[in-house]
Amino acid sequence: MGSGMSEVIIRRATLSDVEAMHRLVNHFADEGWMLPKSRNTLYQNIRDFVVAEMDGQFAGCGALHIVWGDLGEIRSLAVEERFQKDGLGRVIVSELLADARALKLPRIFALTYQKSFFERMGFVEVPKSTMPQKVWGECMDCPKFPDCDEIAMILEIEGIE
Ligand SMILES: CC(C)(COP(=O)(O)OP(=O)(O)OC[C@H]1O[C@@H](n2cnc3c(N)ncnc32)[C@H](O)[C@@H]1OP(=O)(O)O)[C@@H](O)C(=O)NCCC(=O)NCCS
Repeated sequence: MGSGMSEVIIRRATLSDVEAMHRLVNHFADEGWMLPKSRNTLYQNIRDFVVAEMDGQFAGCGALHIVWGDLGEIRSLAVEERFQKDGLGRVIVSELLADARALKLPRIFALTYQKSFFERMGFVEVPKSTMPQKVWGECMDCPKFPDCDEIAMILEIEGIE
């Protein structure tokens, strides 16, 4: 991974990560890459999140949100610009996929503009019209609703019925 001597840690988020998560996610939301998140939402969903640290510094975060018995969503995935392209996004997603396996969750989706990144993680693009109705609950609160141009991507996790 990248610069040799750097130490990467992936761990569950704690409440004291919320300020850094809030700043990072809303920075990319301002640029149109992802949905904004309030502190309220981050606190309420803190158990969905993992955090990456690079040499002891907050470097990124991502969440696995359970939608239904057979479906989860990767949300609020973000890596600090200075730490991007060094494998951290992959490590965060791998940790969320391990979580999904532990929960026996067979299918994960993401709504994203980062098609190539998610393809590298094994996701495939699907028409948004094929996504189940329950996916769209959160969309009602999105500034882009109903003209969402994000790409729907799905990963089937092997070995889970
Ligand atoms: C998407 C994001 C999390 C990727 O994080 P990252 O740490 O740079 O990704 P990684 O270094 O782990 O990349 C993993 C793989 O994806 C590829 N990749 C990453 N970003 C890519 C991009 N924008 N275009 C093409 N490929 C990309 C890498 O080359 C790498 O491929 P490899 O393992 O085969 O070499 C990061 O770019 C980001 O925070 N973007 C802004 C917020 C955002 O869009 N989040 C997604 C919301 S759904």
